[in-house]
Amino acid sequence: MKFFVDTADVAEIRDLADTGLLDGVTTNPSLIAKSGGDFIEVLKEICSVVAGPVSAEVTATDADGMVAEGKKLAKIADNVTIKVPLTWDGLKACRAISQHGTKVNVTLCFSANQALLAAKAGASFISPFVGRLDDIGHDGMELIAEIKTIYDNYAHIDTEILVASIRTPMHVKQAAMIGADVATVPPDVLRKLANHSLTDKGLAAFLADWQKTGQAIL
Ligand code: G3P
Repeated sequence: MKFFVDTADVAEIRDLADTGLLDGVTTNPSLIAKSGGDFIEVLKEICSVVAGPVSAEVTATDADGMVAEGKKLAKIADNVTIKVPLTWDGLKACRAISQHGTKVNVTLCFSANQALLAAKAGASFISPFVGRLDDIGHDGMELIAEIKTIYDNYAHIDTEILVASIRTPMHVKQAAMIGADVATVPPDVLRKLANHSLTDKGLAAFLADWQKTGQAIL
């Protein structure tokens, strides 16, 4: 499974990219607002740090406006992926933008039928929001399983399932068990994936015993 980081914080992205484990980045208007930076400048900087897909979301709500914004954003770097909302206009824009050879991430997906339409519209990525479904008492992971089943039923569908609105390490594990292609994970949750108290405890014991030997490897 690919790991994207869900943030527009360039320092965080730089730090995580240094691990060599980061496959891409997703942003949205809320994350850009939180970063406090200029959208275009922030996007340029992120694209210079990460080689993989960087999702940049349009803010127009009509298809023509989305296409125009998408064209402008796509010029920033080769790895920009245009993010459009899952509305009829968004689907129309997805079709047009992807036909121009630019990758499209269709976001704000909350149903399997929406995901089916996004695939038909030529989306490279579909972003179902698991956390926001959990928030209203639904099962976000059930949606990921449904989309996975549906996409697997049709060999011609190559849209990648990009699990979004991830809140916990458990979400990441469940998404991987279902076989989702990508998880976009907030930086703090991404860091938690490597943590285990028994790892820390075990390492402390190994190092204490090693010190007793008086040896050094280098
Ligand atoms: O990138 C969109 C998505 O990940 C948002 O997550 O936590 O605001 O529901 P959240």
